[in-house]
Amino acid sequence: MTIHKLRCEDACNPLGIDSTNPRLSWQIHSESRGVAQIGYQIQVASSPELLSGPTPDLWNSGRVDSSDSVSIPYEGSPLTSRQRAFWRVSVWDNQGNLSVSAGQDFWEMGLLAQTDWEAQWIGGQTLGGSRTTAPAPFLRRTFCVPQAVSKARIYVTALGLYDLSINGISVGDQVLAPGWTDYRKRVRYQVYDVTSAIQVGENAMGAILGDGWYCGNVEWRGRNLYGDRPLLLAQLELTLDDGSVQRIVSDAAWRYAFGPIIESDLLMGESYDARREFEGWSQGAFDDSKWMGVEVDRPTTNLVAQMSPPIRVTQEILPIADPVERSKWPLPEFIFDMGQNMVGWVRLKVNGPAGTTIRLRFAEVLKPDGGVYLDNLRSAKQTDYYTLRGDKNGEVWEPKFTFHGFRYVEVEGFPSKPTRDSITGIVVHSDVEETGTFECSDPLVTQLQKNIQWGQRGNFVDVPTDCPQRDERLGWTGDAQVFVRTAAFNRDVSTFFEKYETDLSDAQSEKGEIPPIAPNTNVVGPDGGPAWADAFVICPWTIYQMYGNTKILRDHFEGMKRFVDWMESTAKDGIRCYEGYEGFRGFGDWLSTNADTPNEVLGTAFLAYSAHLLSKIATVLGHSPDAEHYMQLFKTTRSAFQQNFLAPAGRLVSQSQTTAVLALHFDLLPEESRAKVAQALVDDIGGRGMHLSTGFVGTPYINHVLTKAGRLDIAYNLLLQKSWPSWLYPVTQGATTIWERWDGWTHDKGFQDVGMNSFNHYAYGAIGEWLYGTVAGICLEPIEAGFGHVRLEPMPGGGLTSARASYDSVRGPIVSDWQIDGNEFRWNVTIPANAIATAIFPFGSLATTTEDGCPVSEAGGVIAAADSFGKTHLNLGSGTYSFSTSIF
Ligand code: BGC
Repeated sequence: MTIHKLRCEDACNPLGIDSTNPRLSWQIHSESRGVAQIGYQIQVASSPELLSGPTPDLWNSGRVDSSDSVSIPYEGSPLTSRQRAFWRVSVWDNQGNLSVSAGQDFWEMGLLAQTDWEAQWIGGQTLGGSRTTAPAPFLRRTFCVPQAVSKARIYVTALGLYDLSINGISVGDQVLAPGWTDYRKRVRYQVYDVTSAIQVGENAMGAILGDGWYCGNVEWRGRNLYGDRPLLLAQLELTLDDGSVQRIVSDAAWRYAFGPIIESDLLMGESYDARREFEGWSQGAFDDSKWMGVEVDRPTTNLVAQMSPPIRVTQEILPIADPVERSKWPLPEFIFDMGQNMVGWVRLKVNGPAGTTIRLRFAEVLKPDGGVYLDNLRSAKQTDYYTLRGDKNGEVWEPKFTFHGFRYVEVEGFPSKPTRDSITGIVVHSDVEETGTFECSDPLVTQLQKNIQWGQRGNFVDVPTDCPQRDERLGWTGDAQVFVRTAAFNRDVSTFFEKYETDLSDAQSEKGEIPPIAPNTNVVGPDGGPAWADAFVICPWTIYQMYGNTKILRDHFEGMKRFVDWMESTAKDGIRCYEGYEGFRGFGDWLSTNADTPNEVLGTAFLAYSAHLLSKIATVLGHSPDAEHYMQLFKTTRSAFQQNFLAPAGRLVSQSQTTAVLALHFDLLPEESRAKVAQALVDDIGGRGMHLSTGFVGTPYINHVLTKAGRLDIAYNLLLQKSWPSWLYPVTQGATTIWERWDGWTHDKGFQDVGMNSFNHYAYGAIGEWLYGTVAGICLEPIEAGFGHVRLEPMPGGGLTSARASYDSVRGPIVSDWQIDGNEFRWNVTIPANAIATAIFPFGSLATTTEDGCPVSEAGGVIAAADSFGKTHLNLGSGTYSFSTSIF
């Protein structure tokens, strides 16, 4: 048994932790079966020497008899700003083994008090207005270091975006830092270890500032949402060899100039004139005598450490073919195909005369005539310009402060015939670790999963956004809650959603409302309406289920109560969003197909659902009176739902598929009408030629509801349907991401409404969770949150002959991999050490089931075995198993 993947606050050896009780996690691994942790001991010390000695100075948990291995809060001596804590964990397992981690792991505290900051906010003059962009200021200062440095940290952030270098070396690997929060409420700073960049003698520090979300264009209403120019806050702290500390901070001593970045904007693009570059500008020797003195500003902000995954470049992609020439006049124009609808930018490689300007335009799809389709970008230009300096050795450029959503790149004005390698696609997103894979015997469904993954990558850019290309790119709450379950299978989004939940909390109104967008740009009112605002409860509940994360529940419990109480207070006789309600009645079942679901149905259903989840959350947190209170609210809302929306004959008054789906999934019906409502749903699907009509709200649950109602056949029909509306229709049209609309483009109608037609919206990708959970069988609702007790229950159908999913849970990798071969069902499963599983077989019986060729009763690791309700149930300890059973 070995210990690995030691994490502090979900990160490996993080710098800049500002939780005073950071959470520690690890995984154990063993080749044997049935391995479980029975005890652990955490030791924490201020140095590796003290950690290996008999008395670690910060914390010794002593042996704790527990199987917990996830998010154990540090409970040692109070930690101070900048302190590094080394830790190790010892684990005892149920097979008599003891394993101790290497003792090299650490975390380092950030600046815990606002008074730790000596740095001041600095920037250049205000240029540009709410519609005009401005050049990016380059800021620098020199400093002298008298002796060798044993440790150097820079604590840095910006209102806007920053790109930092020391002595000409770029600092860190983050891009678009510090990301997006409601800067009026909190600004996250980053910490980098820059020890190796500092030299004895003269040094220089330089920063370029971009407008970003702070003062660039955000959605369609122009610039300057939070401020009118970008500002930098930087504090370099050097510990010299003699132990003394030298600080170089952003202050009036810095100088600045406007240089090659003529404009930069997240939505509009970046313009760069290489003739204006300053050679060596962030090095000591540079002559800055013509630069201007910076302006010092004092915005009030709450500085917090960044504890969620940074945005990084995660991949480079080359075009899949040689560029296609589109026109020769007035300027040559070529189109590159990246083969994938991606998010980021391109690196340009060019050789040509000084002063030549190249224009790069980015599009997701092509028009029928082969040109780039830009209409769906609305006011977002996502266009970059590069003006050559005329370097004989060639020039390489990529933008710093913008990103685009695209598959095709139109290059205009290239000074010669470009080749395939003239551009490289740079893929950018929040660097959340990939945790899930899914594939099956149907290549279109496997491609669907790829599209879901890419949709998530492109839309998780610090905030879960609706789309990455048009003038929107907002943290729509509805989209986030629809997709969160799938997102959490695909990638480790635990701290990503902790950050988003904080954004939601920052956006909560005095009354308790949750808006439709967070960070809130106030483009719509304070209430997001049903299925949007409810993200505030649904997202943390999912994060708890998937990761066993109780912190997100604890931190926001009071806020969630205020939200649900506010919803209750606006209901009339248990009905929310009733006709005549003066508040916001909601977005409806957004983008449904010829099937409206009344607002009062959605409003009431989601009040019931959020109350129900909140009751479960209260139970997890041990708040019994609240658990009872919200359970009661769920029940009274359910009664109101039935009285108002269920006809005496047991049919729902609203006939939309989404109404039936919500009523069934949220448990809003009396037992006796469930079958009738399910049948009505099946009939409606059949009446539409085996098509769904659900929009954002109903789609995530429809296949679950059909599966639970015993109509797996219909669920598979929907999954495998190739004509629209369906998941596979876009795949048959060559989609490489999930479309916003079922009919983004059709043969008969062409493109949908230009006002709203993104080809990279993750919401309908919510089917991903059903692929993992039902097709492959790694169920989302683990028997114990955080997959301590996994439920494996594949349900083959639709003619699929194999499916395989893997999920890297917080306990370790889970695999479910089945194949049908004639009369034989083969099923390989892996359960991580320190977890158990209940495996439920779709076929066969105990008598026909073998493991590695032997009867199940002889297999090691099997804790219990029984046939119940016509299915074989096995309780399994950790390990890898190869089962086989007969289908008939
Ligand atoms: C967004 C959606 C969002 C919706 C609200 C759209 O413009 O792109 O995904 O949820 O507005 O209905």
